Amino acid sequence: MAKILLGVSGGIAAYKAVEFVRLATGEGHSLRVLMTASARRFVGPDTFEGILGAPVLTSEFERDPMRGAFPGQEQPDHEPIGHLAVAEAADVFLVAPASANTLAKLATGQADSILTTAFLACRAPRLVAPAMNDRMFRSDATQANLETLRSRGVEVIEPGEGRLASKGEYGIGRLPEPEELMARVDSALAHASGSGDMAGLKVLVTAGGTREAIDPVRFLGNRSSGRMGFALAEAALRRGAEVTVIAANVGLEEPSGVERVDVEDTAGLAEACRARFSGSDLLLMAAAPADFRPVEQSPGKLSRGEGDLTISLEPTEDILAGLAADRRPGQTVVGFAAEHGGEAEARARGKLESKGVDLIVLNDVSDPAIGFDSDQNAVTLITAGEAEQVPIAEKSEIAGRILDRALELSDPADS
Ligand code: CTP
Repeated sequence: MAKILLGVSGGIAAYKAVEFVRLATGEGHSLRVLMTASARRFVGPDTFEGILGAPVLTSEFERDPMRGAFPGQEQPDHEPIGHLAVAEAADVFLVAPASANTLAKLATGQADSILTTAFLACRAPRLVAPAMNDRMFRSDATQANLETLRSRGVEVIEPGEGRLASKGEYGIGRLPEPEELMARVDSALAHASGSGDMAGLKVLVTAGGTREAIDPVRFLGNRSSGRMGFALAEAALRRGAEVTVIAANVGLEEPSGVERVDVEDTAGLAEACRARFSGSDLLLMAAAPADFRPVEQSPGKLSRGEGDLTISLEPTEDILAGLAADRRPGQTVVGFAAEHGGEAEARARGKLESKGVDLIVLNDVSDPAIGFDSDQNAVTLITAGEAEQVPIAEKSEIAGRILDRALELSDPADS
């Protein structure tokens, strides 16, 4: 388990840092916490210490009773310089929440607190999670500071959008939930150490739904939101994989560290997939390509005044079947099937064979609680062997189960 150094700066979201510490220690990680003076106006060091079982450092001049060691780690026999020692011992450094003031200091290399000095000295992967009022976040100064930090290899965890601390305000600036912070830390650790069980694997994920143009303003589309594909991309990234997402009309922010390619229609999706498939080890075809497209596109906007309209459609190419047929040994191919009610499993099993894939992830779209726009899903994993039911859970958890199964299928010892 990892040694996580957590820097807490001033902001109402500091309470979420407490929850992060609970979550991370619960997962077996060892943590030290550094707080700025203004952070202490929002939460007390005692709160962290109670969970951590280690003193919180609040000043670069105080002596660290643990001599820079993390819980469970042997302490050195000499008295080191506290802020340098914890920064040296850390596997990863997360600043959450990162206030506008702290970000400005980190971007300019100031060293006027325990947090900023340790950040400057730390050679482990560093992540910052800004949290502030949306006007402060969007300001040119804050954006320039974030850009500077990014250019120096610091990972910026984008804030979420929603209700902000100041009364009646809504916008971007919310600190992501502890689970997301943990996912980002896990991903940084897996990439830095090459330790995740997908380290070294190249994963290609497709997400969203394609749009087939009828005229310059109208299209045939479907309700796929891209959530399942993005959850898969994030889960694979967290496990150390190198991930590319081909996104068809997805209005979601991709996890940082993922390469994103945007496409519009099925032909564009097919082309983007063909260009990248041979270089990947695992394909997760979660996108919903349109099955039909208009035979002709009207060059001008169709007018209602023209009366009845008949649009002739032709089938699009089956991208997945084409890629699976061309695969080289060692590539694993996973398809998805959204089916309605009875015979769903039999139809999905038929697709496993007709498309020549290793695994079909079946979801029953007749249940409104799961599927397209929902954060939850329930699936059945269909392989040549027995089907495995994965009961309703967050899409992030379902993604983990799909990856587990895909890895088993790609293991030569298993085939
Ligand atoms: N798929 C694809 N190209 C298409 C249509 C679907 O690659 N033109 C992929 C999907 O991304 C999914 C899998 O095939 O991973 C199954 O999609 P589905 O729409 O269920 O299959 P279809 O072949 O369209 O079968 P049908 O419409 O007959 O149910």
